[in-house]
Amino acid sequence: MNGETRCREEGNPFLPHPARIVRTYPLTQDVKFFQIRFLNMDQALAFKYKPGQFAMISVLGAGEAPFCLSSPPSRPGLLEFCIRKAGSVTGALFDLKENAMIGVRGPYGNGFPIEQMAGRDILITIGGLGVAPLRSVLLYCLDNRDQFGKVSVLYGAKKPSEMIFREEYFALKERGDLECHLAVDADDTGSWTENVGVVTTLFPKLSKVNPENTYALVCGPPVMYKFVLREFVKLSIPKNQILMTLERRMKCGVGKCGHCAIDYIYTCLDGPVFTYWDVLHMRELI
Ligand SMILES: Cc1cc2nc3c(=O)[nH]c(=O)nc-3n(C[C@H](O)[C@H](O)[C@H](O)COP(=O)(O)OP(=O)(O)OC[C@H]3O[C@@H](n4cnc5c(N)ncnc54)[C@H](O)[C@@H]3O)c2cc1C
Ligand code: FES
Repeated sequence: MNGETRCREEGNPFLPHPARIVRTYPLTQDVKFFQIRFLNMDQALAFKYKPGQFAMISVLGAGEAPFCLSSPPSRPGLLEFCIRKAGSVTGALFDLKENAMIGVRGPYGNGFPIEQMAGRDILITIGGLGVAPLRSVLLYCLDNRDQFGKVSVLYGAKKPSEMIFREEYFALKERGDLECHLAVDADDTGSWTENVGVVTTLFPKLSKVNPENTYALVCGPPVMYKFVLREFVKLSIPKNQILMTLERRMKCGVGKCGHCAIDYIYTCLDGPVFTYWDVLHMRELI
């Protein structure tokens, strides 16, 4: 829904809905998990989203910032976020305890085309905090397992203690209905049992890929894209089936302020999910 439609249908699009932090705990040294519930149950149920969309979270006295939804839409009622401490808003969020009130507005952005992805094989490549949006799509695929073909995950982090949701991904490795490979750039523990090396070193471990039938998703630090995209291309995955979520500075989230604009594209409306085809035609996107 674009900003104008939202304005017409719901009044002020900038008005956050009051919500409560139900659970929060550290995931790594500088990343925290937040589970959030709207105070008004009707608003909770009306908050329908797609994996890959984002919400604006506000903290009284500190301001607001955009964050990807990390929970899957297949588990309505509670919203989950995975947030790295970066500055004033995230710093204020980190100081809040369970039961504290925040504001949430959204969902915004295009999200992943999950209807088109149904019936296809899904290959997800994650680097670091890129787990935030990709966890939503992965859990959605697993919650609707019969609607997707082969599901594969390649996940890389700098070191074991920086692998966000590490236990969750080790548990996934035990499931028989997906392929999951984990890597760290460096093992500083001496007890890491998985691959050591950058995330692209996991590609040779993948079982046979059927490129025409595969959607390949990637999110991670900017430096990672070039190398992962090269691997997707080597696998002959069509460029319009390669999807990535990209970040830009955002203020309004609804196509009004122009902060996220690149030429005629508003990242908050036309993104944050783009195909490799989009990126090749607009190199400033990465
Ligand atoms: C669509 C979208 C989804 C996002 N999802 C997540 C998420 O799931 N988890 C998460 O931790 N973060 C996410 N971010 C980034 C998050 O919005 C920023 O970290 C946040 O706005 C920082 O706000 P702050 O007030 O704490 O920091 P500020 O005080 O505003 O800034 C602190 C530092 O961070 C830099 N910074 C601020 N915003 C950005 C940005 N968008 N990109 C790069 N650098 C920035 C500033 O230049 C400054 O150096 C997302 C951003 C976008 C646009
Ligand atoms: S964030 Fe305001 S136009 Fe996109």
